[in-house]
Amino acid sequence: MDKLRISGGRPLEGTVRISGAKNAALPVMAATLLAPGVHRLRNVPRLRDTQTFARVLELLGAKVAFEDHLLMIDTLGVNSVEAPYELVKTMRASIYVLGPLLARFGRARVSLPGGCAWGPRPVNLHLTGLQAMGAALDIEHGYIVGNNVKLKGATVGFDVVSVGATVQLMMAAVLADGQTVLENVALEPDVTALGEVLIACGARIEGLGSRRLTIQGVSALRPIDATIIPDRIEAATFAAAAAMTRGKIRLEGVVPDHFEAALRKLEESGCAVQRGADSVTVTGPARPQAVNVVTQPFPGFPTDMQAQMIAVCALAGGTSVIEDTIYFDRFTHVPELARMGARIELKGNVAVVKGVDRLYGAQVMATDLRASASLVNAALAAQGETLIDRIYHLDRGYEALEKKLGALGAQIRRVN
Ligand code: UD1
Repeated sequence: MDKLRISGGRPLEGTVRISGAKNAALPVMAATLLAPGVHRLRNVPRLRDTQTFARVLELLGAKVAFEDHLLMIDTLGVNSVEAPYELVKTMRASIYVLGPLLARFGRARVSLPGGCAWGPRPVNLHLTGLQAMGAALDIEHGYIVGNNVKLKGATVGFDVVSVGATVQLMMAAVLADGQTVLENVALEPDVTALGEVLIACGARIEGLGSRRLTIQGVSALRPIDATIIPDRIEAATFAAAAAMTRGKIRLEGVVPDHFEAALRKLEESGCAVQRGADSVTVTGPARPQAVNVVTQPFPGFPTDMQAQMIAVCALAGGTSVIEDTIYFDRFTHVPELARMGARIELKGNVAVVKGVDRLYGAQVMATDLRASASLVNAALAAQGETLIDRIYHLDRGYEALEKKLGALGAQIRRVN
């Protein structure tokens, strides 16, 4: 199994080009099922998760070809409606095929994703929303099964803000019969980007960027030709690395507004941040200051940056309090950071971080994608050498990470 060997203690300096966003690419890949034809997706990150999603589409009968970051998907030959457990269990976003399959074929057989490393991640809102639109869905042997479904417009109000459920219901509603109103939708850039892609293909969606979407179903959509938005979490992760290493990193090809909440917290911790039209330069302080963070749906501070922010606070002057309100159990990085000398006390979904002067290299284990990113950042700042095991998690979500960090002056090597 691959590991990362990192010698820490050097400031990261230079320019890094941010890749397309995994969390924006996956819903658009699912949306290709809505229209038979050849779809072109540009700026798609080459990651384990986009490969896995491509495999899901191939199993359904699509033809998929990557040319560098251009992904071509031909959905003319789609002839299966089954997303098997073997793939869904490795990538929960596979469940996004459910709405498009029901909308285009009236049938679907999609594995329930099951649990995840940080506790239950329910899909009840996806299912009740589709049921409100007339889909009779059964759970059979671990699969969500729908047959003879004719989706009809409905009013669906979400009691919690969910990226997944918003995306799922948007895709179902664009081809449904009549008007759908979705209330309390997620505003994450990935959601808005999907809406824009669908509109460009002929979907009728009003209210993008607000908490209420009104969607008039149309009978058919044109194939997609779209560019995936930049990855705000990748960008913010590099920004956090600058904060921890007294570095100066220019992030290129970004939309600064998409990670403004993270940038503000980094400023509060002492970073200097210069925002350009499509670039951001982050200069880390001599030592970060403690900050308090509460994760919230967009435009709040993202749960996907909680682990990396805890790593920043581990080195900060003072005590920080970090609360995750989206996923209560998402703290597997805490005991690993403790092995590097961090002083963190966990009380339920709240981490109290007492900053230390220095972190030390150690052998640690990655447990999920963002937890792994926090360990990489901690290792870059730590004194001595860190060996991070199970880095396949990082390969799910960070494109060419060693190459990008190496170009910024990090001493980082993949070993097995
Ligand atoms: C969430 C994050 C997203 C992040 C992703 C991976 C939010 C709002 N969403 O998206 O930014 O990229 O994790 O880290 O921050 N929920 C239900 N029932 C459902 C669906 C969700 O109760 O059917 C709950 C979840 O348990 C969670 C909240 O709603 O507490 C947000 O879930 P959702 O946005 O759907 O999760 P992801 O799509 O995984």
